Amino acid sequence: MAPTNVFRFRPATIAAGDDRWFVEAWDSTLPYLASIGSTSQWQYVPSNLPGAVSKVKKMVTESDISAQKYPTSSPEVLEDGAVPPLDWSKAYVAEIDVKKENLPAALADKYSNIQGDVVAIPVGAMVLQGKSPEYVRAVIPEQDEKDPFIFLAFLMTDHRAGGLAKGSGSALLNIAKEEVKKLGLKRLCGDCWRGNGRRLVGYYDGQGLKAIGDFDVPKNEQDSWEGAVTEWRA
Ligand SMILES: CC(C)(COP(=O)(O)OP(=O)(O)OC[C@H]1O[C@@H](n2cnc3c(N)ncnc32)[C@H](O)[C@@H]1OP(=O)(O)O)[C@@H](O)C(=O)NCCC(=O)NCCS
Repeated sequence: MAPTNVFRFRPATIAAGDDRWFVEAWDSTLPYLASIGSTSQWQYVPSNLPGAVSKVKKMVTESDISAQKYPTSSPEVLEDGAVPPLDWSKAYVAEIDVKKENLPAALADKYSNIQGDVVAIPVGAMVLQGKSPEYVRAVIPEQDEKDPFIFLAFLMTDHRAGGLAKGSGSALLNIAKEEVKKLGLKRLCGDCWRGNGRRLVGYYDGQGLKAIGDFDVPKNEQDSWEGAVTEWRA
């Protein structure tokens, strides 16, 4: 059996350049998605699309601002009525230590100049938010005062890292579940593409995030992006 990877987690920040790495990691998933017949999960190469770059930058910037405004993830954030503030947000990076000699070829140039025999490389990215995006409105509201949730807005692993990244997505989801509990909540929601035989929905199901409803986002007059909202309950 392959050894289990051990990850460390830290906030993603603009100061650390994580927004740029998020885009690289996003790009790195494309050959994998193509290989499993899921090219349509995302319609573009993120780094070539200014909108995607600014979307990622916005998410990490909002997390920076939220860290200043809400320095602890504790019940005092939620004191009155236990509904997360809509501007609450937390972006994470999962890192792993790797000996330079074991760096995957695709990352050797990027990290081999860092001092020391062992380097900490980012392998997984996640963003949690205090509100759901507009496009899932057919299934859940922006926030639900009677049944509040944290929304999983972004999750991916750096496919250039190969086996070193395996399990970092799942480990980040465990962090998300812990975050929900720390905030005194009981519900984590997210969304994902449901094309290609609901394969990604199946991944989330295996992680305890069960599909609670489907939605469609029109791409043009003939076609739409098929999504599903998922939910985990503490
Ligand atoms: C989804 C993801 C974060 C899970 O990370 P992880 O928990 O570390 O798990 P792994 O990467 O080992 O993937 C586990 C299984 O999930 C499945 N899976 C992952 N991404 C998938 C996708 N986009 N579509 C369908 N299945 C997917 C695969 O079956 C994989 O099994 P395999 O090892 O046999 O290929 C990561 O695989 C990833 O970045 N995928 C591509 C980007 C993506 O789809 N992000 C989610 C957007 S909602």
